[in-house]
Amino acid sequence: MKARKIKEHIYWMGSVDWDSRLFDSLIPLPDGTSYNAYFIEGSEKTVLLDTVDPPMAQEFMEQLEGITKIDYIVSQHAEQDHSGTILQVLEKYPDAKLISTPKAKGMLIDLLKIPEEFFIAVEDGETLSLGDKTLKFIYTPWVHWPETMVTYLEEDKILFSCDFFGSHIATTDLLVTDEGRVYEAAKRYFAEIMMPFRNVIKKNLEKLASYEIEMIAPGHGQIFPHPALIIDAYRDWTLGTPRNTVVLPHVSMHESTKRMVDHFVAALVDQGVQVEPFNLAVTDIGKLAMALVDAATIVVGTPTVLAGPHPYAAYAAFLANALRPNTKFLSVIGSYGWGGKTVETLAGMIPNLKVEVLAPVLCKGVPSGDAYKALDDLAAAIAQKHKEHSFT
Ligand code: FEO
Repeated sequence: MKARKIKEHIYWMGSVDWDSRLFDSLIPLPDGTSYNAYFIEGSEKTVLLDTVDPPMAQEFMEQLEGITKIDYIVSQHAEQDHSGTILQVLEKYPDAKLISTPKAKGMLIDLLKIPEEFFIAVEDGETLSLGDKTLKFIYTPWVHWPETMVTYLEEDKILFSCDFFGSHIATTDLLVTDEGRVYEAAKRYFAEIMMPFRNVIKKNLEKLASYEIEMIAPGHGQIFPHPALIIDAYRDWTLGTPRNTVVLPHVSMHESTKRMVDHFVAALVDQGVQVEPFNLAVTDIGKLAMALVDAATIVVGTPTVLAGPHPYAAYAAFLANALRPNTKFLSVIGSYGWGGKTVETLAGMIPNLKVEVLAPVLCKGVPSGDAYKALDDLAAAIAQKHKEHSFT
């Protein structure tokens, strides 16, 4: 794709990645993604904000062919999907200076072996004049690594945000057209890479609140011509209270745990609690992560296998622990054959979750009356807890 004009003297560059289905060899990308860079022509100086993932380098370098001079490259985030082509750009424009936070400078030297003499490390709030345009660099750590910053173009009131406010969508529409689609993709993206840092992100949102922002141009996905959509969503995801929802990742081997899960889903519905079950044998973990953003309770359904939880259930617990959702309650249900340490093993895997553990329901073999009654009691206890905390 060619460079595309956003406003006078401001261009989108980069690459739309239609085919990728996995990011960081972990995160599902059902809609592909894009790697967005931006080029700004001031009356005196020019600047390139970020680059692209190295596999997209050729397309990106072709976009640069008509550009004779780049004075500055801004690296807002050291991760290679944005920084990985900087060295090639510096080879083409050896007089360019590379602007980053001091922390990003160290990381870029470590990760890409960029020679130190190219760098200008900027302070939080420092400005750079391009002549008739002014860039302001604002530190916003942990979106999504510790070194990240965003860039505010003062005259045009555009916030260039790199990973912050991004979404994984491949499309030919440069600006947001389908708000529902973007909201869902942005929530999935938030869950997968931002949620663990939501307390810092809250502070970043507060820091940006004093800026008049007319457009947000992220490093992935579409540009927001109406930034309230994504800013309000981030406020909700970072500040909001959990909802009256149980996320139920589960797996079954011989149907016993599945029967318990089915009964438990119905019991929760009877109690007025929303449930999002995920069969771990087939589920998209991005959907599971998204559900964790605002669920009050997690219940893991697992058989006991080889004396512990099923490996898929262990994977879900490990993922939840890494993503650190704002979940308040947790329990385990499942069937076992003769014994094991399923609950102890799972409980030991979630030290990051500040949850109250509710009494698990484990039954030997096929569930029957007592097990079903215990599941009804667990559903009632969860409903009561949610009510006490006014989760709606
Ligand atoms: Fe899009 Fe953290 O890289």
